Amino acid sequence: MPWDLAGEGVMESASRQAHWENVYTTKDENEVSWFQQSPAPSFELITQAGATHASAIIDIGGGASRLVDHLVGQGFEDVTVLDLSGAALEAAKRRLERRADPVHWVVADATAWEPAKAYDIWHDRAAFHFLTDEKDRAAYIARLTQGVKAGGHAIIATFALDGPEKCSGLPVARYDSASLARTLGSKFLLVHTRRHEHATPWGSRQMFQFSVFRREA
Ligand SMILES: C[S@@+](CC[C@H](N)C(=O)[O-])C[C@H]1O[C@@H](n2cnc3c(N)ncnc32)[C@H](O)[C@@H]1O
Repeated sequence: MPWDLAGEGVMESASRQAHWENVYTTKDENEVSWFQQSPAPSFELITQAGATHASAIIDIGGGASRLVDHLVGQGFEDVTVLDLSGAALEAAKRRLERRADPVHWVVADATAWEPAKAYDIWHDRAAFHFLTDEKDRAAYIARLTQGVKAGGHAIIATFALDGPEKCSGLPVARYDSASLARTLGSKFLLVHTRRHEHATPWGSRQMFQFSVFRREA
């Protein structure tokens, strides 16, 4: 029944948000497996994709990541961080202090948000892989297609095929570059991919796949 389906969608999104708010209100940044002191792989790929200081860059599911610190610190002027968790963004803002002011902070679900403009660079490290439901993936990809300029780039990092099956206690979908390219569809041309072994704060290893796609016209 349509009523049931609509209700289910709302509940899913609300419980997803509750999960992440709980994570960011109960743990410090270096108590989560995905913490990186230096987001070097992401930063390198953003610069390799040709980003200039004027490029519009969005970090989807950016959480409390330090990528925004690096971007602002290197002079990037149009940076947006979007996350389901307001607490995550508040933690990043507290860390950045006045440097947070020019950043655009958006609390939203990436599967439901309506991009107000198109970006040159869409970056996502470890958010897309939580979308294990086909309907959610399709909703995300619709926003991605709308939210990246033709000729712009999407940099998406997920757990690799030999990465963990769960993150933060939630199941994830794992990808290599070919399966992610098939999932995103023909509007996104794979231009680069690399594997990256992430060391968690407690020293375990997680294999990530970073893939860079150019948005076709
Ligand atoms: C594993 S963490 C990675 C955080 C950050 N990208 C990093 O590399 O440190 C996943 C992040 O995605 C966010 N997230 C999960 N599902 C989301 C969704 N549907 N929309 C927006 N953010 C989401 C979570 O709140 C969390 O901050």
